[in-house]
Amino acid sequence: MRMVVLVSGRGSNLQAILDAIEDGRLAAEVAAVISDVPDAYALKRAERAGVPTYCIEKRDYSSRADFETALADCAEGARPDLIVLAGFMRVLGEAFLDRFPGKVINIHPSLLPSFRGLEAQRQALEAGVRYAGCTVHFVDLGVDSGLIIDQRVVRVLPGDDVETLSARILEQEHDLLVDVIRRFGAGLV
Ligand code: GAR
Repeated sequence: MRMVVLVSGRGSNLQAILDAIEDGRLAAEVAAVISDVPDAYALKRAERAGVPTYCIEKRDYSSRADFETALADCAEGARPDLIVLAGFMRVLGEAFLDRFPGKVINIHPSLLPSFRGLEAQRQALEAGVRYAGCTVHFVDLGVDSGLIIDQRVVRVLPGDDVETLSARILEQEHDLLVDVIRRFGAGLV
């Protein structure tokens, strides 16, 4: 299974995928990593693993559709079976999604449909929920609104702040994302 991973930042979820492939826990290949942020640390992780990297910045295009078309052309060049948004911080529209129906998944640090959008962990703490978590879902035109594939639950502990809660959720993200990709590859999603 060939994957394209879209990133914007740190890339710890990308690293979890690369490590699982390296260890033989995941029979797949990251064919390309594409970032919309030139200095995203995720690009370094990809380079270290010998994965081709690309950077496509929104500001180089006059419209969102042109940007997304460039992104889709780049992704298509890697002939992906699956496109994984792993900390990719932009909402994608039709110009991208129509090119890869049923093939684009995202990881989000909340138990969707609660706490869509930015700073999901902070939203959870502010709402006072006792259970938080993460979700992998298919990407549709909404914000974190596509069909849910699977979730992991994380207990909110007394004294948690954004940092401690995010760190515990992130551990589960890494496990969940690899697990969903494995099942997708096996035709079980
Ligand atoms: C992760 O927590 C991911 O769930 C979140 O950004 C972080 C990226 O971390 N994504 C979103 O909030 C998307 N709405 P990473 O770059 O270390 O994988």
